[in-house]
Amino acid sequence: MCGIVGILGTGDKAKELIDGLSLLEYRGYDSAGICVLKDDKLVLFKKKGKIKGLQRLVGRRDLSAMVGIGHTRWATHGEPSDRNSHPHTDCSNSIAVVHNGIIENYLELKQGLIDRGHKFVSETDTEVIAHLLEENYKGDIYKALKETVKVLEGAYALAVVTKDENNRIVAARKGSPLVMGIADDKVIFASDITPILMFTKKVVYLDDGDVVDVSGVAPSIRIENGSREKAVEISEIDWDISQAQRCGHPHFMLKEIHEQPGVINKLYKLHIRGSDVVFPELSHMDVSGLKKIYIVGCGTAYHAGLVGKYVIERFAGIPVEVDVASEWRYRDIVVEDEALCIAISQSGETADTLAAVEKFRKEGVKVLAVCNVVGSSLTRAADAVILTHAGIEISVASTKAYTAQLVIMYLLAFFLAQKRGKGIDSYIADMSDIYSAVNQVIEQKNELQRLAHHHHHFGSFLYLGRNLDYPTALEGALKLKEISYIPAEGYPAGEMKHGPIALIDEYRAVVCIATDSFVYEKMYSNIEEIKARKGKIIILATSGNSHIGQEFKEVIYLPKINEVFSPILNIIPLQLFAYYVAVARGCDVDQPRNLAKSVTVE
Ligand code: AGP
Repeated sequence: MCGIVGILGTGDKAKELIDGLSLLEYRGYDSAGICVLKDDKLVLFKKKGKIKGLQRLVGRRDLSAMVGIGHTRWATHGEPSDRNSHPHTDCSNSIAVVHNGIIENYLELKQGLIDRGHKFVSETDTEVIAHLLEENYKGDIYKALKETVKVLEGAYALAVVTKDENNRIVAARKGSPLVMGIADDKVIFASDITPILMFTKKVVYLDDGDVVDVSGVAPSIRIENGSREKAVEISEIDWDISQAQRCGHPHFMLKEIHEQPGVINKLYKLHIRGSDVVFPELSHMDVSGLKKIYIVGCGTAYHAGLVGKYVIERFAGIPVEVDVASEWRYRDIVVEDEALCIAISQSGETADTLAAVEKFRKEGVKVLAVCNVVGSSLTRAADAVILTHAGIEISVASTKAYTAQLVIMYLLAFFLAQKRGKGIDSYIADMSDIYSAVNQVIEQKNELQRLAHHHHHFGSFLYLGRNLDYPTALEGALKLKEISYIPAEGYPAGEMKHGPIALIDEYRAVVCIATDSFVYEKMYSNIEEIKARKGKIIILATSGNSHIGQEFKEVIYLPKINEVFSPILNIIPLQLFAYYVAVARGCDVDQPRNLAKSVTVE
């Protein structure tokens, strides 16, 4: 959580840092701050609340300078307040630091520093770093940082400046993301590549343990890891800054929902050759004899994993176990032979997913990352990587990354099936219908807006689905609760009678996924049971299903596709419904309360 930016190079630092932080605001938004080295003094602005508040505080001040650092916060230690906002400084306001992560031994370090006379002004774990830097500083901030990180336990991405060394910025990472961008006349540090894209497409993905020194007007760069000097390896990225703009949409979430057909098409074109599924990414991995697959992920990525289980078992016949990464990491797993772990993550920085991956690797299980962010920690920890190519996803509520993960799950299932000599040609052909079907559903957005308008006052929702649509029920409910704050629960419809049916009355809204499927009749019986108990029913059905419309008022009809692909299509109306309910309730759709896009702490 939290986003950090650090920039060395001439320019209006207020604008550069605030623009950069705005692109990282999805990572945390309860307070923000910047520090600029101006006229040999550290000038700080910190403000509780969103970046707009910080922007107002800075106003039109001239902050043209060579170096500056900035931070947008998701509070861990200490409530959101001006005082607890970063950057944090040492006793004499000579050194300033921004930090993403958690210093686990900060209490012990803080006590030692207090005993040695340091004065603390915040309740944060981060402030100890500023005071440790002060103790270690002997005229060289890089040396001071290398000494300081030796005593830090936990996770950190840090950027540091000092008033005593103009034209210098130093940084370090361990367990929290940090990328360095290299433009002609600037070096930029950031928690992800989006702020870097404002200046350059040339990036250096930093590794855990890297400590970086950038200094000089024509900046020179030094990276050390342990006591070893490292080469600066530059990669070129193909993302574009326009992807991080709303482009006329009122919210990123709506924009990202609209981008889904394009993402589906792109993945299809990348991985289908005639009637073959290709994954050059797996060429160095022998997957033909796999006997077991473990899938891990969190939140939405976990739901994609559940769909993965259904389709891999169905098409490839390989047993699959799925769990949320936060549970996997503490389970006593009994790993089977010839196994593969598939770790799914949009950001590639989710702490629990990374920890689960580490555990699998220690057990000797190879890891395949299904990830959206190239160069992220997950992609570098894995043995093989399949990118989801959804482009930058800014909205905290994941939409296009989810559909991309689903498409990869299907393609992977087909790929594994082909490796085992199973015929799936007709499915590959049918998969090409999804693009236009998803487009058609997005065109129905006015109808979903109307539906949301009529239901946004409900106090709770139940989402029901069976088989492949059970994960869709979970994901639909997650979308609604995270952006509208309405309690919503996803359930396998067959479990209704084992408890949840007690919840049904005229005040309960129940979203029933009843598109064409071999379990349609079963689902229909469940719907009748809810009707008999006066639940307020909303149905997703397949167009051409005339009888359901005669009996129920609120039916959203979806185009007919091969029912195997229903998870990809059926989630679209549920995303739009959640979006419009949140808008109707006046919620902050892209930045829901208490959440952050990347959960980089446990
Ligand atoms: C999705 O809408 C959520 N915001 C959240 O559940 C998310 O999917 C989860 O935190 C996992 O993130 P990741 O895909 O970046 O690992």
